[in-house]
Amino acid sequence: MKIFGIETSCDETAAAVVEDGVKVLSNVIASSVDLHQATGGVVPEVAAREHLRQISPVIDRALLDAGCEWKDIGAIAVTTNPGLIASLLVGINTAQTIVYIHQKPLIEVDHVIGHIYANFLERKTPPKFPLLVLTVSGGHNELMLMRGHHDFVKLGETLDDAAGEAFDKVARLLGLGYPGGPVISRLAEKGDPAAFQFPRPMLDGENKLNFSFSGLKSAVRREVEQLKKIDDQTIADLCAGFQQAVIEVLADKLVLAAQEHEVKEVHLAGGVSANRLLRQMAREKLPDSLPLYWPAQQIYCTDNAAMIAAAAHFQSE
Ligand code: KG4
Ligand code: ZN
Repeated sequence: MKIFGIETSCDETAAAVVEDGVKVLSNVIASSVDLHQATGGVVPEVAAREHLRQISPVIDRALLDAGCEWKDIGAIAVTTNPGLIASLLVGINTAQTIVYIHQKPLIEVDHVIGHIYANFLERKTPPKFPLLVLTVSGGHNELMLMRGHHDFVKLGETLDDAAGEAFDKVARLLGLGYPGGPVISRLAEKGDPAAFQFPRPMLDGENKLNFSFSGLKSAVRREVEQLKKIDDQTIADLCAGFQQAVIEVLADKLVLAAQEHEVKEVHLAGGVSANRLLRQMAREKLPDSLPLYWPAQQIYCTDNAAMIAAAAHFQSE
């Protein structure tokens, strides 16, 4: 069955057609990210207005790219939660209108679960359960045990900032614009990760699979405040030191969770799963015998509607 997905939870207006939960027939994304550069973060009002402007052309394009008409579509899937409320409403109202006009079933999808299903897109083999997923993005930071389709047990989550949020806040602090992850990881390549020593907030006891990144962000701020001069190399070193600290914590907790639960696969999902160091460190630290997956394409890491259609397919099975 072909599912038409709609995603508008944050600053990407997205629509896609996915067949049988894995085959991406179209995946259209219009981002308002450039409008949020000046503010160093998403302004909800601005994002919602952009969704209103973009939603119709994005939907038309997704249908056209897939070579489909509405009669070929089996169901409409839409992100209903979590997200910016005004942004979500644009997608939900649009989905409800299509459902009403074309008489299709509506499937409501949770955005975080959508990110998890990004790993199923273009996958050739069925997943082996139970598997472990680290979902890391701007709004979410969770370790989940996936026992079957749509059967999740939350093992840990962030107690304050999500990893992507920490990247975004540190980028704003350093005047690097938004979103922070891609620019920090690019600059980090020219920096020395040992030039600054930032804390690794590991937590323990009942919090050993939880995360906390707000102290790390404050540590970067304190370091910046003490510096007499900040040149390009210092910025690169700060980026490298900060990235190393975040990624080490993420990778170590992933390994800890994989040791505690007998899993057959490990998945990275969400915007931060695009990070090269995270992929590399997770691969190095996990046992060689444990398959490690991340989304097949970079655009499936960040917000998109193909993942929403994929999640809906396995929800409706
Ligand atoms: O999944 P996503 O598009 O949106 C949310 O659901 O939040 O993730 C966006 C987040 C941003 O915080 C961005 O800084 C981060 O993902 N990100 C990265 C990278 N690419 C995007 N963080 C670290 N390294 C990257 N390469
Ligand atoms: Zn997201």
